[in-house]
Amino acid sequence: MPAISSTAPAKVILFGEHTVVYGYPAIAAPVTGLEARVTITAQPGRSTLPVIEAPQIGLKTTLDHLPSEHPIALAFNLVAEALKLDHWPALHLRLTSSIPVASGMGSSAATAVALIRALSAFVGHPLPDPQVCELAFRLEQHHHGTPSGIDNTVITYARPIFFIRDQPIEFLTFSMPLYLIIGDTGMKGLTREAVAGVRQRREQNPTWYDDRFRAIGELTRRAKRALIEGQIDEVGRWMVENHRLLIEIGVSSPELDRLVQAALSAGALGAKLSGGGQGGIMIALVHPENSSQVEQALRRAGAANVFSVVIRTTQAI
Ligand code: PMV
Repeated sequence: MPAISSTAPAKVILFGEHTVVYGYPAIAAPVTGLEARVTITAQPGRSTLPVIEAPQIGLKTTLDHLPSEHPIALAFNLVAEALKLDHWPALHLRLTSSIPVASGMGSSAATAVALIRALSAFVGHPLPDPQVCELAFRLEQHHHGTPSGIDNTVITYARPIFFIRDQPIEFLTFSMPLYLIIGDTGMKGLTREAVAGVRQRREQNPTWYDDRFRAIGELTRRAKRALIEGQIDEVGRWMVENHRLLIEIGVSSPELDRLVQAALSAGALGAKLSGGGQGGIMIALVHPENSSQVEQALRRAGAANVFSVVIRTTQAI
């Protein structure tokens, strides 16, 4: 069996995180122009059992030594079940990732997608994208509890999407490249907890929350039109409004708010948290000539990491 290599990119949510869990639309894009991705190689192995190595987290073990609930063990099981494999050939799997974990950049979904692709390709039956996406969703359910499916979808197809839970995927073509600065607070944001917190608060106050959810759904639809038509200033304004509503539903943090304010004061067109929030990353939309100013402002405001990325609809990831 020949060696296989597979890779999956990070992602950002441009609009509609959290409310997407409740059936409202969201817009997400893969991250290009940045070395934030998961890479997996699968090579013929010498031991009879699959060997798994993830040097960055100090993992080197055989499959039988992984707890059955470990995401890598689950990926092996899901792929074996899908392909009706009764045993794995000798193989050596090596995982590396440059996506910060628990930061809202889709590290768990990218790992799931790359693993499913590598394992199925190694045994000679590369799974088609819809099945990769579905299996990655099942892995995300273990990780997150009640994910909407947006992360595994945008990462599987590696194209910007307009996503509504349980509806056909709509791929988006923006009429201009989006220049984004990503500011990482360096604080871990646990999506599972952030999503559970919104659910609990909404149960106490459904009408108030549903009003905010509807407002986010509406601005996401307007932002979609602005992205397609190239109204970049309007995209920025909807980001600011989305962030304000995310604060209201309780998923921002003082660090995220400080970075968003710093980006706007330095001339960003818009800025908001991205992903689960309560830590993790924020994104700022900039004119390219203004990007270094915004980057510096984010560093001064305490960002642990700052990346500059360009989202292009047509670019191969
Ligand atoms: O924090 P991330 O990158 O896993 O983003 C999750 C987005 C949420 O809308 C908060 C949850 C979901 O499943 O859609």
